[in-house]
Amino acid sequence: MCGIIGYVGPRVALDVAVAGLKRMEYRGYDSAGVAVIVGDHIELRKKAGKIANLEAELAARPIAPTQIAIGHTRWATHGGPTDENAHPHISANGRVALIHNGIIENFATLRQQLEAAGVPFQSKTDTEVAAQLLGREVEAGADLADAMRTVCRLLDGAFTLVALDVTQPGRLVAARRNSPLVVGVGEGENFVASDVAAFIEFTRSAIELGQDQVVDLDRDQVTITDFAGRPAQGKPYEVTWDLSAAEKSGYDWFMRKEIFEQPRAVADTLLGRFTDAGALKLDELHISEGHLRAVDKIIIVACGTAYYAGLVAKYAIEHWTRVACEVEIASEFRYRDPIITGRTLVVTISQSGETADTLMAIRHAREQGARIVAICNTNGSTIPRESDAVIYTHAGPEIGVASTKGFITQLAACYLLGLYLAQIRGTMFGDEIAGVMRELAATPPLIQKVLDTLEPMRDLAKRLAGKESFLFLGRHVGYPIAMEGALKLKEIAYVHAEGFAAGELKHGPIALVDKDVPVFIIVPPMGRDRLHDKVVSNIEEVRARGAHTIVLAEEGDLDVAPHADTLFRLPRVSTILQPLVSIVPLQFFACELATLLGYDVDQPRNLAKSVTVE
Ligand code: G6P
Repeated sequence: MCGIIGYVGPRVALDVAVAGLKRMEYRGYDSAGVAVIVGDHIELRKKAGKIANLEAELAARPIAPTQIAIGHTRWATHGGPTDENAHPHISANGRVALIHNGIIENFATLRQQLEAAGVPFQSKTDTEVAAQLLGREVEAGADLADAMRTVCRLLDGAFTLVALDVTQPGRLVAARRNSPLVVGVGEGENFVASDVAAFIEFTRSAIELGQDQVVDLDRDQVTITDFAGRPAQGKPYEVTWDLSAAEKSGYDWFMRKEIFEQPRAVADTLLGRFTDAGALKLDELHISEGHLRAVDKIIIVACGTAYYAGLVAKYAIEHWTRVACEVEIASEFRYRDPIITGRTLVVTISQSGETADTLMAIRHAREQGARIVAICNTNGSTIPRESDAVIYTHAGPEIGVASTKGFITQLAACYLLGLYLAQIRGTMFGDEIAGVMRELAATPPLIQKVLDTLEPMRDLAKRLAGKESFLFLGRHVGYPIAMEGALKLKEIAYVHAEGFAAGELKHGPIALVDKDVPVFIIVPPMGRDRLHDKVVSNIEEVRARGAHTIVLAEEGDLDVAPHADTLFRLPRVSTILQPLVSIVPLQFFACELATLLGYDVDQPRNLAKSVTVE
């Protein structure tokens, strides 16, 4: 959601900005723009639609090389995705150009005041208010960084801002509240961006800006203050992955690459979590064991795919720890006045660590006295920073908007958390925990085995490419996987798809079933699971109504064969860990179908990878 880049240094700044925007395309956007300083004025190019449109505009109206640039991909909130509303915005006096990620909640009042003072507006955006305010401050003689701090103090809401001033062609100023911003520190050049992917090609030295900070940069210096102008510290770190992780490496889509990276991602997430003495350790967990023993309720809050990981976690955590566990969509959580005490543990799951709904939910929970454990894939992002403890997933950068390796590593981290709590609370014996851990550690080759046998899903996608509606059924941990499988199809193939608890089918959804509705069914492991036979009956219920049944069942399960129009075999794992293998063919099917239908799998319409507005 909105990608921001600013560059100052010896390179052709516009090229750096456009390359950076391309690396942030995955965040989701519907217009793009750049601004540079040429002589005594600001040159602006901006276009609705893809970055290719902006590049065409730059080719038609080229700009001479400059050593400073700002660039922006916009995901429309206030004002439609038009050329005028695209960023950057220039103040009416021509002094500053500014880009923004977030929502300025008091923009209407500020705009009225500015219009009453005779300031003309070009766009319908909330952002232009900040550009106009900043332009007036510098015109009145304020230093650019002072002016930025003054403007920030006037704004309510979420905003990351980057601005340049036509009179200072070697200087950029940026500010951060709630939306992400990272500084890239180079040699004789510096960057600011929403995401390190934007500058990873040039430097791996990054500084993460804190909440309510302003950064002032030229090619040699980076100065950070708070909104009051007091010196402040960012958090320096080295990016551990390289450019190849942010590239497709021969795959047609990032999503497909990320599906195939899953064995590795799970292995990396599990690595080093088990001591030689046989105990589980989660280094980043800094809540006392006494506190964790006293916890009497766990609430998991998350959005989208991460929410479905949370639903799987509920089954594992309650089974292993006997602590009541609720799972809630983050955007609903705080508005229903949830019951939270000092003994409530809130577990939040977020790939990006920046999702605004999730962030607001944990802030609310903290205010009510809960401790927060974050499961997150993005080092140093806001959600883990505002949590009491973190379990990082080690999926590496996830670029495809539809989460795959992010999800599977969230599952792995949830299992680790459940086992850890069981260890602390003594609800499982050490050898039981070691047994599950051994089985978990053995899953990456099983996930690989699924990846090696996906060919039938490719054929199936061809056969079902014209269908308009799909159902997904599962029970127990298969139920959230059914919903996640359906979500993948909705997100990237734009077909109607719903995931249901297989036992609930007869209470309504079965009315949707006919010969034109293919039904995926995730079958729990045979014999060892009492739900197996019930799911087999559910398959027959839909088949009797003409549906094409696609059955995902473990190797050796002979009972299902007569009921399956298409049978996909899963490796043998225990019921609770089955999501690690059952989700993979569903992700792949969605990717195949969307590809066949000609859609942009990595950047589905209307979606953003990291949703930084509520
Ligand atoms: C967006 C993305 C989803 C993602 C959700 C939660 O809606 O499009 O793919 O599951 O946000 O993201 P998070 O980064 O918090 O896991």
